[in-house]
Amino acid sequence: MAHYAVRESPPLRGEIPISTSKNAVLPIMCGALLTGEDVRIERVPELTDVKTLCALLASCGCSVKKEGDALVLNAGALQNPQDEEDVRKMRASVLVLGPLLSRLGEARIPLPGGCAIGQRPIDQHLKGFRMLGANVEQMGGRIKAKADVLTGTDVVFDCVSVGATINVMLAAAKAHGTTIIYNAAKEPHVVDLANFLNSMGARVKGAGTDVIRIFGRDYLHGANYTVIPDQIETGTLMIAAAATHGDVELTGCIPTHMEALSAKLLEMGARVTESDDTLRVRGTLCGYRGVNIKTQVYPGFPTDLQQPMSTLLTTAMGQSIVRETIFESRLKHLTEIGHMGAHVQFVDNATAIIEGVPELYGAPVTATDLRAGAALVIAGLMARGVTEIYEPEYIDRGYEHLEDKLCSLGAEIRREKFE
Ligand code: EPZ
Repeated sequence: MAHYAVRESPPLRGEIPISTSKNAVLPIMCGALLTGEDVRIERVPELTDVKTLCALLASCGCSVKKEGDALVLNAGALQNPQDEEDVRKMRASVLVLGPLLSRLGEARIPLPGGCAIGQRPIDQHLKGFRMLGANVEQMGGRIKAKADVLTGTDVVFDCVSVGATINVMLAAAKAHGTTIIYNAAKEPHVVDLANFLNSMGARVKGAGTDVIRIFGRDYLHGANYTVIPDQIETGTLMIAAAATHGDVELTGCIPTHMEALSAKLLEMGARVTESDDTLRVRGTLCGYRGVNIKTQVYPGFPTDLQQPMSTLLTTAMGQSIVRETIFESRLKHLTEIGHMGAHVQFVDNATAIIEGVPELYGAPVTATDLRAGAALVIAGLMARGVTEIYEPEYIDRGYEHLEDKLCSLGAEIRREKFE
């Protein structure tokens, strides 16, 4: 079984360029299915989830060509997926539903898989398709949606959902008439998808607010697009810099996407300075103050940074309360870090009270999902001795060469394979 061996790290020092965003590139790849013309996406990150989606798009008849770090997609010969194995590997697979319904009038996929961080229903996605005029059935673990025509309408989500917002944007881009999404997600990757669709000739207005207007177009053409930097990679590396009391500059990022995290790091006593597209994080040797974290939809504190951040809080002074409001079981990493000496009391599945300890010590731990894996790497950088992290493959799903980037800053991480 493969595992990472992570040694206690000296202060991380140096400069790291940020990769483009996993949660932006996956919806944009699905958006390429809305046209029969070439779509070229530059600087695509080397992630397992990208590879999985490439395989899924290929099984939908889409041609997928890599040209250096660019992807060229052409969905001229679109069909429903022939090989459904890939759908079950990740949640983002559900985002092919909107484009398939729009282009073919019919979409059939098994329920998507994904990280075990909660129930993750797709009722809002299906509600949006029904509002647009589709007949949608969910039975026996499969989704089947049919619509001779999709007609623009008002879609009011019962809860803020990134995926449902994205799926309805994709389905509505070529619908007849105007669709208005109320209670829309405002994440940076929702805005990036809107910009991508508009570069294809769509008319999407209001992305980044909770009301998005999509004026349906008869035809969308090909595009050449570069995806935004990864907000969650940026945040994870900011936290790693603070956790090792280092001095790290992140380049090619968007500081305004990081406001909620930067504010919390400053509140703890770290130093964060920013320019147009760089962020510099410097630790402090006199120890950090504990703070309370409550995850929220954007622009609140991102749920995807809760796991790395709550790891940092395990050695902050005093008490910190972590409240995960987006997913119902996203604190499992803290149980693992408890084996490394952290003092964590779970009020319920979504709330933890952390009493800071002077230090963690290395132990064998297991990643339970993508961001938990990154959190355990940070715990390993903080802990005395060596930490073995099992199931590191989760990390490859969403971080491009994370261990190489950390090692280039002075960390000591080895990927060991035992057959
Ligand atoms: C996206 O997941 C991201 N994944 C997640 O990142 C991220 O944590 C999440 O948004 C929140 O920001 C991708 O973009 C591929 P949601 P998504 O729909 O779209 C409930 C990572 O680590 N809900 O906004 O699945 C749901 O159960 C991943 O990169 C419904 O009830 O998230 C959850 O409690 C993990 N019904 C909440 O809404 C629905 O139909 C937010 O889910 C849809 C969602």
